[in-house]
Amino acid sequence: AWTMRNYLEQAICEIRERVGSERVLLGLSGGVDSSVAAALLHRAVGDQLTCIFVNNGLLRAREAERVQEVFGRHFRMRLQYEDASALFLRRLRGVTDPERKRKIIGRTFIEVFEAATRKAGPARFLAQGTLYPDVIESVPIGGNPAALIKSHHNVGGLPKRMRFELIEPLRCLFKDEVRRLGEALGLPREILWRHPFPGPGLAVRCLGEVTAEKLEVLRQADAIVLEEMKRSGWYEKVWQAFAVLLPVRSVGVQGDERTYEWTAAVRVVESQDGMTADWVKLPYDLLERISTRITNEVRGINRVVFDITSKPPGTIEWE
Ligand code: XMP
Repeated sequence: AWTMRNYLEQAICEIRERVGSERVLLGLSGGVDSSVAAALLHRAVGDQLTCIFVNNGLLRAREAERVQEVFGRHFRMRLQYEDASALFLRRLRGVTDPERKRKIIGRTFIEVFEAATRKAGPARFLAQGTLYPDVIESVPIGGNPAALIKSHHNVGGLPKRMRFELIEPLRCLFKDEVRRLGEALGLPREILWRHPFPGPGLAVRCLGEVTAEKLEVLRQADAIVLEEMKRSGWYEKVWQAFAVLLPVRSVGVQGDERTYEWTAAVRVVESQDGMTADWVKLPYDLLERISTRITNEVRGINRVVFDITSKPPGTIEWE
């Protein structure tokens, strides 16, 4: 019978046979696919694997720390941490057009990643967490920006001068199988059941110009949304849940002071594949807790709205 344990053993054998004594690099994002690919390769070839993690300054609260804890300290992988947040933010300064933001982020990512691979030293292989659905849908359909940007992060989008042999140990698997494989490899649930997170990160949830100040406000609001979703058991029932920062000021009153601050939009959707989505009818008391906590705890936000738009006609992200 086909079991995950058999699959795991066979995959390890195949990787060892192919890699021999060569080195392997892997771009670790902290998402489900690259995390499972990293854990699998590490099990197979240990220190011959180096994971490169790029902090683009557009990550959620405590994400970079968490990746270092889980992969560096717990799994003891060779982890090359590249903090490029200042570079990304500098390049994004003054940019308000969503498509330009994405292009700048995609280009900068490739540049930073390429420099990081040079720094990592000679390696023959580059590993990727490509799944079976990515293999069959490698041509972007319907102009979906997600598919387009995804291809950026694939090696197809990396410069030809980066001559690596590709290793894609998950390319026969579907998402649910990848999660089971990750479980067999001892990855925490928190990583295996994460919601999808766009490559351009918080930049597409911070409308208009991206600044360090706005990102910080957004991170705090988003952390509250995630915390309350998890605490109430709703997190694992939905496709995505997050906060968006609307840099529009409105008047409020807090204590006996008049305020004039930004708005947070809360977006929670259910979906099968991200192509269509329905907004989730969360219980009022959960919405109330989220709203109260954000307005009480996040300086810079005095109003919270809930997005009741499905896709179509809306998109899941706001940019
Ligand atoms: P939209 O906003 O197009 O999102 O309805 C559909 C799904 O794709 C994710 N998404 C992205 N993922 N890079 C990614 O890797 C991107 O640029 C990107 N844009 C959207 C989004 O989070 C949702 O799950």
